[in-house]
Amino acid sequence: MLNLVTFGIILAHAGIAYSEPQLYEVNDRKFLQQSFTMPKHLSEGLNTRPIIGVLTQPLSEDQKSDHRYKGKTSYIMSSYIDYLKSAGARTVPLIYDGNLDDELAKIDHLNGVFYCGGSGAGAYDVFGKKVFEKVKKMNDEGNYLPIWGTCLGFEDLAMYASDNSDKTLSPFNADDESYSISYLVPPKDTKMYSILGDDAHVFEKYNITYNHHSYGVSPDAFNLDQGLASIFTPTSISYDDDGKPFVASMESKQYPFYATQFHPEKAQFIFYPKTKIDHSTISIFYNRYFGDMFVNQCKQNNNHFKSYEVEESFRTENFGTVVTKAYDGVDFVF
Ligand SMILES: *[C@@H]1O[C@H](CO)[C@@H](O)[C@H](O)[C@H]1NC(C)=O
Repeated sequence: MLNLVTFGIILAHAGIAYSEPQLYEVNDRKFLQQSFTMPKHLSEGLNTRPIIGVLTQPLSEDQKSDHRYKGKTSYIMSSYIDYLKSAGARTVPLIYDGNLDDELAKIDHLNGVFYCGGSGAGAYDVFGKKVFEKVKKMNDEGNYLPIWGTCLGFEDLAMYASDNSDKTLSPFNADDESYSISYLVPPKDTKMYSILGDDAHVFEKYNITYNHHSYGVSPDAFNLDQGLASIFTPTSISYDDDGKPFVASMESKQYPFYATQFHPEKAQFIFYPKTKIDHSTISIFYNRYFGDMFVNQCKQNNNHFKSYEVEESFRTENFGTVVTKAYDGVDFVF
């Protein structure tokens, strides 16, 4: 027996109306009713076999002192790979300290580029910027090649776009907290959230965006920095533990570039118990959306490797993994 129950109230203002997510009940168990209109708004695209480049990051001091990382210099947390795979993509590592020409050449065959959260500066930053410049140029030349940045990746993209990258970031107190977001523009006018329809307001109601950062981009930075503002538009903010606003998401009007300071991949894939990650059904459902949305964007170009054998030879899964028993869960190591 299936009962539709409306969870919460229905709000109706002049011109806008939205409802709380609907739950349906089967034998006393509650399930979330899918109400957003993704299939309608996501076109199938040129390519149903997207392959996404994911930048590796330098090992942390802890990883370097762990014998299982011996002989390795960089890593990708598997949660990012799992997140993209669960939306129907495969991944190829862009190895920050590999041969620069070889790593950049991979991008010609890829359908999107992903910057992970974590930490990295120095040579990682220099490599990340070279990747960004190449992808931007490919877009300028008519190749629709999307980029996504999460957390550090968000900060990287803001710095790469900035006129004064030393001043782009400022300190915030948002270490292991789940927040709601407040939109700076109506979500229906954004590329990132419009697909969700009224469900975009779920992120205003629930603390389901997971944050883990001590730096961020203040909304003011977009008023002061023309380079940053010429490429990215801030679309939402959250407030840190001290009540200071930081930009939670941004996107580019002219490029298919998207970034969130929060971590959409963690709800689904990180189960380290000493965190405040929200694994509720609503959190998983709506965080997973960002992966679906980005991977769909990556289907809008037809870049490809020469053959199935060649694409498989580049995949992340060709490299080893370490099961950490710590926050990361599983790392791919390079
Ligand atoms: C979200 O977090 C804020 C700040 O801690 C709290 O006041 C609010 O009640 C939370 N909202 C929900 C729906 O849990």
